[in-house]
Amino acid sequence: MDRIFSGMQPTRQLHLGNYLGALRNWVALQDRFESIFCIVDLHALTLPQDPAVLLSNTREVAAAYIAAGIDPERCVIFNQSAVAQHAELSWILSCHAPLGWLNRMTQFKDKAGKHRENAVLGLYAYPVLMAADILIYKATHVPVGEDQKQHLELARDIAGAFNRHYAVDYFPQPEPQILGEATRVMSLRDGTKKMSKSDESDYSRINLTDDADAIAQKIRKAKTDPEPLPDTLEALEKRPEADNLVTIYAALEGSGRQQALDRFAGQTFSTFKSALVDLSVARLGPITAEMRRLMSDPAEIDRILRRGADKAGDMAARHLGELKDIIGLLRLR
Ligand code: AMP
Ligand code: TRP
Repeated sequence: MDRIFSGMQPTRQLHLGNYLGALRNWVALQDRFESIFCIVDLHALTLPQDPAVLLSNTREVAAAYIAAGIDPERCVIFNQSAVAQHAELSWILSCHAPLGWLNRMTQFKDKAGKHRENAVLGLYAYPVLMAADILIYKATHVPVGEDQKQHLELARDIAGAFNRHYAVDYFPQPEPQILGEATRVMSLRDGTKKMSKSDESDYSRINLTDDADAIAQKIRKAKTDPEPLPDTLEALEKRPEADNLVTIYAALEGSGRQQALDRFAGQTFSTFKSALVDLSVARLGPITAEMRRLMSDPAEIDRILRRGADKAGDMAARHLGELKDIIGLLRLR
Protein backbone atom coordinates (compact mmCIF):
# COMPACT_ATOMS: atom_id res chain seq x y z
CA MET A 1 0.00 0.00 0.00
CA ASP A 2 1.17 3.50 -0.74
CA ARG A 3 2.28 5.42 2.29
CA ILE A 4 2.04 9.11 3.16
CA PHE A 5 4.38 10.99 5.42
CA SER A 6 4.12 14.67 6.25
CA GLY A 7 4.84 17.02 9.12
CA MET A 8 4.65 20.51 10.54
CA GLN A 9 6.92 22.37 12.88
CA PRO A 10 5.63 23.17 16.36
CA THR A 11 6.65 26.81 16.06
CA ARG A 12 3.88 29.28 16.97
CA GLN A 13 0.30 28.52 16.02
CA LEU A 14 -0.75 26.92 12.80
CA HIS A 15 -2.36 29.30 10.32
CA LEU A 16 -4.70 29.23 7.37
CA GLY A 17 -1.79 28.53 4.99
CA ASN A 18 -0.86 25.39 6.92
CA TYR A 19 -4.49 24.33 6.88
CA LEU A 20 -5.31 24.95 3.23
CA GLY A 21 -1.88 24.10 1.83
CA ALA A 22 -1.34 20.90 3.80
CA LEU A 23 -3.52 19.77 6.69
CA ARG A 24 -6.78 19.75 4.80
CA ASN A 25 -5.24 17.61 2.08
CA TRP A 26 -3.94 15.16 4.67
CA VAL A 27 -7.46 14.71 5.97
CA ALA A 28 -8.69 13.96 2.46
CA LEU A 29 -5.85 11.53 1.72
CA GLN A 30 -5.99 9.48 4.94
CA ASP A 31 -8.69 7.22 3.46
CA ARG A 32 -6.56 6.17 0.53
CA PHE A 33 -3.11 5.83 2.10
CA GLU A 34 -1.42 4.39 5.10
CA SER A 35 -0.71 7.71 6.80
CA ILE A 36 1.99 8.97 9.14
CA PHE A 37 1.76 12.54 10.41
CA CYS A 38 4.57 13.97 12.44
CA ILE A 39 5.12 17.03 14.60
CA VAL A 40 8.68 17.85 13.60
CA ASP A 41 10.05 19.19 16.88
CA LEU A 42 13.69 18.56 15.89
CA HIS A 43 13.23 20.80 12.86
CA ALA A 44 11.91 23.52 15.16
CA LEU A 45 15.31 23.59 16.91
CA THR A 46 16.90 25.10 13.82
CA LEU A 47 15.66 28.44 15.16
CA PRO A 48 15.82 29.47 18.85
CA GLN A 49 12.87 28.06 20.86
CA ASP A 50 11.70 28.61 24.40
CA PRO A 51 11.50 25.11 25.98
CA ALA A 52 8.11 25.61 27.65
CA VAL A 53 6.62 27.11 24.48
CA LEU A 54 8.04 24.33 22.31
CA LEU A 55 6.47 21.74 24.58
CA SER A 56 3.05 23.33 24.53
CA ASN A 57 3.18 23.99 20.79
CA THR A 58 3.97 20.32 20.19
CA ARG A 59 0.73 19.28 21.88
CA GLU A 60 -1.13 22.10 20.19
CA VAL A 61 -0.08 20.97 16.72
CA ALA A 62 -1.18 17.43 17.60
CA ALA A 63 -4.52 18.86 18.70
CA ALA A 64 -4.80 20.79 15.43
CA TYR A 65 -4.19 17.65 13.37
CA ILE A 66 -6.93 15.79 15.20
CA ALA A 67 -9.33 18.74 15.31
CA ALA A 68 -8.96 19.22 11.56
CA GLY A 69 -10.04 15.61 11.03
CA ILE A 70 -6.98 13.36 11.16
CA ASP A 71 -8.22 10.15 12.75
CA PRO A 72 -5.74 8.92 15.38
CA GLU A 73 -7.24 5.43 15.16
CA ARG A 74 -6.32 5.08 11.50
CA CYS A 75 -3.26 7.30 11.23
CA VAL A 76 0.01 7.41 13.08
CA ILE A 77 0.53 10.75 14.85
CA PHE A 78 3.69 11.39 16.85
CA ASN A 79 6.47 13.85 17.53
CA GLN A 80 9.71 13.43 15.63
CA SER A 81 12.09 13.42 18.61
CA ALA A 82 10.27 10.38 20.06
CA VAL A 83 11.64 8.20 17.24
CA ALA A 84 15.44 8.36 17.35
CA GLN A 85 15.87 6.76 13.92
CA HIS A 86 15.01 10.03 12.16
CA ALA A 87 18.19 11.63 13.47
CA GLU A 88 20.24 8.47 12.82
CA LEU A 89 19.15 8.18 9.21
CA SER A 90 19.74 11.90 8.79
CA TRP A 91 23.43 11.34 9.53
CA ILE A 92 23.66 8.49 7.06
CA LEU A 93 21.91 10.50 4.34
CA SER A 94 24.11 13.53 5.03
CA CYS A 95 26.97 11.36 3.79
CA HIS A 96 25.18 11.13 0.42
CA ALA A 97 24.17 14.78 0.09
CA PRO A 98 26.74 16.89 -1.78
CA LEU A 99 27.16 20.45 -0.50
CA GLY A 100 26.37 21.70 -3.99
CA TRP A 101 22.83 20.36 -3.66
CA LEU A 102 22.33 21.92 -0.25
CA ASN A 103 23.73 25.24 -1.42
CA ARG A 104 20.82 25.56 -3.83
CA MET A 105 18.15 25.48 -1.10
CA THR A 106 16.33 28.82 -1.21
CA GLN A 107 14.77 28.40 2.23
CA PHE A 108 18.21 28.25 3.83
CA LYS A 109 19.23 31.42 2.01
CA ASP A 110 16.05 33.19 3.19
CA LYS A 111 16.30 32.01 6.78
CA ALA A 112 20.06 32.50 7.14
CA GLY A 113 19.71 36.09 5.93
CA LYS A 114 22.69 38.34 5.42
CA HIS A 115 24.91 36.84 8.12
CA ARG A 116 25.35 33.45 6.53
CA GLU A 117 28.48 32.75 8.62
CA ASN A 118 26.40 32.85 11.81
CA ALA A 119 23.75 30.45 10.56
CA VAL A 120 23.86 27.13 12.42
CA LEU A 121 24.66 23.77 10.86
CA GLY A 122 21.18 22.46 11.75
CA LEU A 123 19.51 25.08 9.59
CA TYR A 124 21.73 24.09 6.68
CA ALA A 125 21.16 20.36 7.26
CA TYR A 126 17.40 20.84 7.72
CA PRO A 127 16.44 19.38 4.31
CA VAL A 128 18.52 16.24 5.00
CA LEU A 129 16.61 15.59 8.22
CA MET A 130 13.42 16.14 6.24
CA ALA A 131 14.56 13.54 3.68
CA ALA A 132 15.26 11.15 6.58
CA ASP A 133 11.74 11.75 7.99
CA ILE A 134 10.24 10.59 4.73
CA LEU A 135 12.68 7.85 3.78
CA ILE A 136 12.86 6.12 7.18
CA TYR A 137 9.26 5.02 6.46
CA LYS A 138 9.86 4.49 2.73
CA ALA A 139 6.94 6.88 2.20
CA THR A 140 5.76 7.11 -1.40
CA HIS A 141 3.69 10.32 -1.20
CA VAL A 142 4.28 13.57 0.66
CA PRO A 143 1.46 16.13 0.84
CA VAL A 144 2.87 19.63 1.46
CA GLY A 145 2.41 23.26 0.43
CA GLU A 146 4.22 24.69 -2.55
CA ASP A 147 7.11 26.07 -0.48
CA GLN A 148 8.36 22.54 0.30
CA LYS A 149 8.74 21.47 -3.32
CA GLN A 150 12.47 22.11 -3.50
CA HIS A 151 13.10 20.17 -0.28
CA LEU A 152 11.18 17.23 -1.69
CA GLU A 153 13.18 17.26 -4.89
CA LEU A 154 16.29 17.06 -2.74
CA ALA A 155 14.82 14.10 -0.82
CA ARG A 156 14.25 12.35 -4.14
CA ASP A 157 17.81 13.09 -5.26
CA ILE A 158 19.27 11.81 -1.99
CA ALA A 159 17.17 8.63 -2.19
CA GLY A 160 18.47 8.08 -5.74
CA ALA A 161 22.08 8.77 -4.73
CA PHE A 162 21.85 6.22 -1.89
CA ASN A 163 20.27 3.56 -4.11
CA ARG A 164 22.93 4.07 -6.78
CA HIS A 165 25.82 4.06 -4.34
CA TYR A 166 24.84 0.69 -2.86
CA ALA A 167 23.34 -0.64 -6.11
CA VAL A 168 20.02 -1.32 -4.40
CA ASP A 169 16.43 -0.34 -5.03
CA TYR A 170 15.71 0.34 -1.37
CA PHE A 171 14.19 3.82 -1.14
CA PRO A 172 11.18 4.73 -3.28
CA GLN A 173 11.14 8.14 -4.93
CA PRO A 174 8.65 10.07 -2.79
CA GLU A 175 6.06 11.95 -4.85
CA PRO A 176 5.10 15.47 -3.76
CA GLN A 177 1.35 15.98 -3.40
CA ILE A 178 0.79 19.70 -3.81
CA LEU A 179 -2.98 19.81 -4.02
CA GLY A 180 -5.98 22.09 -4.04
CA GLU A 181 -6.68 25.70 -4.87
CA ALA A 182 -4.47 27.24 -2.18
CA THR A 183 -1.00 25.68 -2.35
CA ARG A 184 0.58 29.01 -1.44
CA VAL A 185 -1.55 31.25 0.76
CA MET A 186 -0.18 34.80 0.90
CA SER A 187 0.04 37.32 3.75
CA LEU A 188 -3.11 39.38 4.38
CA ARG A 189 -0.87 42.48 4.59
CA ASP A 190 1.18 41.90 1.45
CA GLY A 191 -0.03 39.70 -1.41
CA THR A 192 3.52 39.09 -2.61
CA LYS A 193 4.70 37.50 0.67
CA LYS A 194 3.83 34.01 1.90
CA MET A 195 1.54 33.74 4.92
CA SER A 196 3.99 32.64 7.58
CA LYS A 197 4.25 31.87 11.28
CA SER A 198 7.32 34.07 11.49
CA ASP A 199 5.77 37.29 10.12
CA GLU A 200 5.98 39.87 12.92
CA SER A 201 2.45 41.14 12.18
CA ASP A 202 -0.31 38.90 13.52
CA TYR A 203 -2.63 40.68 11.07
CA SER A 204 -0.75 38.97 8.23
CA ARG A 205 -2.28 35.59 9.04
CA ILE A 206 -5.36 33.83 10.36
CA ASN A 207 -4.35 31.42 13.12
CA LEU A 208 -6.27 28.23 13.75
CA THR A 209 -6.67 29.48 17.32
CA ASP A 210 -8.27 32.83 16.32
CA ASP A 211 -11.87 33.35 17.41
CA ALA A 212 -14.61 34.73 15.15
CA ASP A 213 -13.91 38.36 16.14
CA ALA A 214 -10.21 38.08 15.40
CA ILE A 215 -10.92 36.45 12.04
CA ALA A 216 -13.40 39.20 11.15
CA GLN A 217 -11.00 41.97 12.14
CA LYS A 218 -8.09 40.50 10.22
CA ILE A 219 -10.11 39.99 7.05
CA ARG A 220 -11.64 43.49 7.24
CA LYS A 221 -8.16 44.97 7.64
CA ALA A 222 -6.65 42.80 4.92
CA LYS A 223 -4.95 44.84 2.21
CA THR A 224 -6.88 45.19 -1.05
CA ASP A 225 -6.99 47.57 -3.98
CA PRO A 226 -9.66 50.15 -4.88
CA GLU A 227 -11.19 48.28 -7.86
CA PRO A 228 -14.25 46.04 -7.56
CA LEU A 229 -13.70 42.33 -8.12
CA PRO A 230 -13.03 41.39 -11.77
CA ASP A 231 -14.79 38.69 -13.77
CA THR A 232 -11.78 36.88 -15.23
CA LEU A 233 -8.74 35.14 -13.77
CA GLU A 234 -6.48 37.13 -16.10
CA ALA A 235 -7.68 40.37 -14.54
CA LEU A 236 -6.80 38.96 -11.10
CA GLU A 237 -3.23 38.20 -12.07
CA LYS A 238 -1.79 41.67 -11.44
CA ARG A 239 -3.78 42.11 -8.22
CA PRO A 240 -1.98 39.86 -5.71
CA GLU A 241 -4.09 40.79 -2.66
CA ALA A 242 -7.38 40.33 -4.50
CA ASP A 243 -6.11 37.09 -5.99
CA ASN A 244 -5.14 35.80 -2.54
CA LEU A 245 -8.53 36.54 -0.96
CA VAL A 246 -10.38 34.98 -3.90
CA THR A 247 -8.12 31.92 -3.66
CA ILE A 248 -8.79 31.59 0.07
CA TYR A 249 -12.51 31.90 -0.54
CA ALA A 250 -12.49 29.25 -3.27
CA ALA A 251 -10.34 26.88 -1.20
CA LEU A 252 -12.53 27.22 1.90
CA GLU A 253 -15.65 26.74 -0.18
CA GLY A 254 -14.18 23.79 -2.05
CA SER A 255 -14.87 25.41 -5.42
CA GLY A 256 -12.56 27.16 -7.89
CA ARG A 257 -11.36 30.74 -8.24
CA GLN A 258 -13.43 31.27 -11.40
CA GLN A 259 -16.57 30.12 -9.61
CA ALA A 260 -15.86 32.59 -6.83
CA LEU A 261 -15.41 35.35 -9.43
CA ASP A 262 -18.65 34.38 -11.18
CA ARG A 263 -20.37 35.06 -7.92
CA PHE A 264 -18.61 38.28 -6.81
CA ALA A 265 -17.58 40.00 -10.08
CA GLY A 266 -18.36 43.73 -9.99
CA GLN A 267 -18.92 43.75 -6.22
CA THR A 268 -16.92 45.80 -3.75
CA PHE A 269 -14.37 44.33 -1.38
CA SER A 270 -16.54 45.19 1.58
CA THR A 271 -19.31 42.89 0.31
CA PHE A 272 -16.84 40.17 -0.64
CA LYS A 273 -14.99 40.42 2.66
CA SER A 274 -18.24 39.98 4.64
CA ALA A 275 -18.89 36.76 2.74
CA LEU A 276 -15.30 35.67 3.32
CA VAL A 277 -15.59 36.33 7.07
CA ASP A 278 -18.76 34.24 7.27
CA LEU A 279 -17.24 31.39 5.31
CA SER A 280 -13.96 31.45 7.29
CA VAL A 281 -15.75 31.44 10.63
CA ALA A 282 -18.04 28.62 9.49
CA ARG A 283 -15.11 26.48 8.35
CA LEU A 284 -12.54 27.28 11.03
CA GLY A 285 -14.79 27.80 14.06
CA PRO A 286 -15.48 24.09 14.66
CA ILE A 287 -11.77 23.25 14.30
CA THR A 288 -10.78 25.94 16.80
CA ALA A 289 -13.42 24.74 19.27
CA GLU A 290 -12.31 21.13 18.96
CA MET A 291 -8.66 22.16 19.40
CA ARG A 292 -9.56 23.93 22.65
CA ARG A 293 -11.42 20.87 23.87
CA LEU A 294 -8.48 18.59 23.10
CA MET A 295 -5.97 20.98 24.67
CA SER A 296 -7.90 20.83 27.94
CA ASP A 297 -6.75 17.20 28.29
CA PRO A 298 -3.02 17.13 27.50
CA ALA A 299 -2.66 13.64 29.01
CA GLU A 300 -4.97 12.26 26.32
CA ILE A 301 -2.91 13.98 23.60
CA ASP A 302 0.23 12.43 25.09
CA ARG A 303 -1.39 8.98 25.02
CA ILE A 304 -2.17 9.39 21.33
CA LEU A 305 1.39 10.51 20.62
CA ARG A 306 2.80 7.62 22.67
CA ARG A 307 0.81 5.11 20.63
CA GLY A 308 1.89 6.82 17.40
CA ALA A 309 5.54 6.89 18.42
CA ASP A 310 5.44 3.16 19.25
CA LYS A 311 4.02 2.27 15.84
CA ALA A 312 6.32 4.64 13.96
CA GLY A 313 9.29 3.47 16.04
CA ASP A 314 8.70 -0.18 15.15
CA MET A 315 8.71 0.52 11.44
CA ALA A 316 11.65 2.92 11.68
CA ALA A 317 13.73 0.39 13.65
CA ARG A 318 12.97 -2.34 11.10
CA HIS A 319 13.97 -0.15 8.18
CA LEU A 320 17.11 1.15 9.87
CA GLY A 321 18.16 -2.45 10.53
CA GLU A 322 17.78 -3.24 6.83
CA LEU A 323 19.77 -0.14 5.97
CA LYS A 324 22.58 -1.09 8.34
CA ASP A 325 22.84 -4.44 6.59
CA ILE A 326 23.04 -2.71 3.22
CA ILE A 327 25.67 -0.25 4.42
CA GLY A 328 27.79 -2.70 6.41
CA LEU A 329 27.24 -1.25 9.86
CA LEU A 330 27.76 -4.04 12.40
CA ARG A 331 24.52 -5.03 14.12
CA LEU A 332 25.27 -6.72 17.41
CA ARG A 333 22.68 -9.23 18.48
P1 AMP B 1 5.54 24.81 8.46
O1 AMP B 1 4.66 25.81 9.10
O2 AMP B 1 6.72 25.45 7.77
O3 AMP B 1 5.93 23.67 9.35
O4 AMP B 1 4.69 24.18 7.27
C1 AMP B 1 3.82 23.08 7.42
C2 AMP B 1 3.09 22.79 6.13
O5 AMP B 1 2.27 23.89 5.75
C3 AMP B 1 4.00 22.53 4.93
O6 AMP B 1 3.45 21.51 4.13
C4 AMP B 1 4.00 23.83 4.19
O7 AMP B 1 4.25 23.70 2.82
C5 AMP B 1 2.58 24.31 4.43
N1 AMP B 1 2.50 25.78 4.39
C6 AMP B 1 3.15 26.66 5.21
N2 AMP B 1 2.84 27.93 4.88
C7 AMP B 1 1.98 27.86 3.82
C8 AMP B 1 1.30 28.84 3.02
N3 AMP B 1 1.43 30.16 3.26
N4 AMP B 1 0.50 28.41 2.03
C9 AMP B 1 0.35 27.07 1.79
N5 AMP B 1 0.96 26.11 2.49
C10 AMP B 1 1.77 26.49 3.50
N1 TRP C 1 9.98 21.26 6.29
C1 TRP C 1 8.56 21.14 6.46
C2 TRP C 1 7.95 22.51 6.64
O1 TRP C 1 8.48 23.36 7.27
C3 TRP C 1 8.19 20.26 7.62
C4 TRP C 1 8.69 18.88 7.44
C5 TRP C 1 9.73 18.29 8.09
C6 TRP C 1 8.17 17.92 6.53
N2 TRP C 1 9.87 17.01 7.66
C7 TRP C 1 8.95 16.75 6.71
C8 TRP C 1 7.14 17.94 5.60
C9 TRP C 1 8.74 15.62 5.94
C10 TRP C 1 6.93 16.78 4.84
C11 TRP C 1 7.71 15.64 5.00
O2 TRP C 1 6.89 22.73 6.18
